[in-house]
Amino acid sequence: MMMACRMPRPNRSTRVVAALVMVGACGGITCPAPLSAADPAPSAGAVKRLLDEAETLLADGKPGRAKDRLGEAAGMLIALAEESRAPTGFRSLCTRAGDLRERLDLEGVDVSALDIPSGVAAKATRPAPTDRPAPAAQPGPSFTKEIAPLLVKHCGGCHVSGRRGDFQMTSYDGLMRTGMVQKGAGAASRLVEVILSGDMPRGGGKVPAADLATLVSWIDRGAAYDGTDASLPLTGPPAGPPAATAAAPPQLRGAVALQPGDVSFAFEVAPVLLQHCAGCHDADDPEGGLRMVSLESLVRGGQTGPAVVPGKSADSLLVKKLRGTGIEGQQMPLGKPPLATDTIDLIARWIDQGVKLDLLSPKAALADVAAAGRARSLSHEDLARARFAATDGLWRRAIADEEPVVIARGSSLCVFGNLPASRLEEVAEAAGRIEAEVAGALVADGQPLIKGGVVLMAFAKPFDYSDFWVNVLGAERPKGLLGGAGITGDVVYGALVVPEAGQPATELDFRLAEQITAAALVGRGVPAWFANGAARVTAAKLVPKATLAKSWRAEAADRVSAIRSAADLVAGRADPADATPVAAAFFGASGGAAKLPLLVAHLDEGKSFDQAFQQAFRGPPAAVVDGWLARESRKPARRSP
Ligand code: HEC
Ligand code: HEC
Repeated sequence: MMMACRMPRPNRSTRVVAALVMVGACGGITCPAPLSAADPAPSAGAVKRLLDEAETLLADGKPGRAKDRLGEAAGMLIALAEESRAPTGFRSLCTRAGDLRERLDLEGVDVSALDIPSGVAAKATRPAPTDRPAPAAQPGPSFTKEIAPLLVKHCGGCHVSGRRGDFQMTSYDGLMRTGMVQKGAGAASRLVEVILSGDMPRGGGKVPAADLATLVSWIDRGAAYDGTDASLPLTGPPAGPPAATAAAPPQLRGAVALQPGDVSFAFEVAPVLLQHCAGCHDADDPEGGLRMVSLESLVRGGQTGPAVVPGKSADSLLVKKLRGTGIEGQQMPLGKPPLATDTIDLIARWIDQGVKLDLLSPKAALADVAAAGRARSLSHEDLARARFAATDGLWRRAIADEEPVVIARGSSLCVFGNLPASRLEEVAEAAGRIEAEVAGALVADGQPLIKGGVVLMAFAKPFDYSDFWVNVLGAERPKGLLGGAGITGDVVYGALVVPEAGQPATELDFRLAEQITAAALVGRGVPAWFANGAARVTAAKLVPKATLAKSWRAEAADRVSAIRSAADLVAGRADPADATPVAAAFFGASGGAAKLPLLVAHLDEGKSFDQAFQQAFRGPPAAVVDGWLARESRKPARRSP
């Protein structure tokens, strides 16, 4: 086929594979203890250093350890808040800590236990959440009828649905926790001060004197709550479209380990939603405004507001809509029979258990979460069947106008390609041999190299691989890249452009060894930089006669200077053309080949990549790579022209 005949294909999927690879370092699971030796005395300087460290760790892709640092900083801030005079810069440190907490939360790290002072004057200790006042005894302004609407009106976009200056009032409870309201002391409360001083509201608005008087009077009279549930959103019960933007959705945590008896969202709930609700609640033009693309968007809900209230299935619109009780509009799924009572009960139980997520992250596509759930619970053979079937869809997404040739080798390998059958047969033959060699180097005897088998996508021409990038990965193929590994949905794949038939067989073997190794690592949650570096070295060992096996060291030496910092490399920010050779050089220089089986064994025990790396390489990735880069840069130029 001529390149020129190809019509551009629509970019049907922009879901990027990387999103799949596990939740951040140790989001929600056990984190290694903080490394600091002796706790320094609390001071603004010490807090600042801890926050700097935490930020670097987060940038390095280590949210778990960033959280440890932030925790230490928060402890110091609390101690400082108790001192009679908070140090200079105290408030901005609190704001910084709050921002960082929010970013960690977005990364899926459980930060619910991290208490950060609001940063107001030191005396503003926060009342405990249980400090809920009895309903107002004396008459005065009503919180629900007057104060809440007033705050929403004048401060809403920035502090109710938003969180400017790290200050948010989602509910009565939430407002009281911020320490901005001092019961009985209206004029002295920070909430009033900022209005009186003219600092708030920002953006040109103004609180009319009458409203301000109402607010002061309410606080003076004890700032009582007069509604039924002090944790309800300030916006009150939603009032039709577009309430979804006003009602604050519940906070979601990253993945956690399930306890016995827990419902698995990934394996039990997500598949039900995918099966029965797709088509009407997708990303584009969803019915009722409800997008069920990720756990986050499901919980956020549609036009009526949050669809799920964690811990309260009876109050969750999702369950009400499934049962068809106490709702406006139709029972769901619309136009189909109701779900079985058992199934609805299961979903209700999951909500009552607190909307736990067991795999990936709240932002991950439901389809990927469900796939990860299947991967964990199916046997190797069943997973292989599901995976090989799913690859067909993947191939058609990549190259819609060409039937693939498919060759399966048992349950451990399946090759898809658009090559003549005889050539693909050669590829499959070589792949089978190489797969066994890689398995010998990586996993214990008798174990599959990848649970559910390896899928290889063998492309005849570089432009076929470009199509795969555009149509499946949603990006242009990086210049010169002839292969890569990834996960999407059920499929763990290695993709490669097959060398011309006239080239030495070792060239094909090398590319196969590289992509099969990379797939085995990426499929275990290893980040791309490390997987690619390790794969190149492993391939060079297995196929020493290939061109790249001889040249990768020299290439690496050329690229080291292009990597600005270990942090860039480790966080995946480096250009892949530089990252792979440099990661390979690092891997080769630090005895990676000998350490790889140990690392893989740790991953298979359920450890995160950072934990497994730490065990195998005696330090966290960024620090270890940094040390190596520093030694490397001190070396005199090694190669003579
Ligand atoms: C257009 C956006 C906007 C609106 C509207 C707004 N704020 Fe703010 N608010 C901010 C920003 C931005 C900050 C952070 C200010 C800073 O760090 O200097 C902030 C910070 C605050 C803080 C914490 C900082 C401090 O000084 O202690 C309080 C309290 C506050 N706002 C109260 C209010 C109240 C009450 C209203 C409504 C009457 C309001 N804001 C309306 C943007 C807004
Ligand atoms: C054939 C299309 C269709 C299917 C399938 C469908 N829905 Fe709906 N859904 C709608 C329409 C239309 C609305 C808006 C009208 C209404 O609420 O009755 C809606 C609204 C909703 C709402 C309320 C959203 C809001 O904020 O008001 C929920 C919750 C919901 N659906 C859940 C589900 C669930 C769960 C499933 C799968 C078990 C499902 N739906 C399947 C069409 C569908």
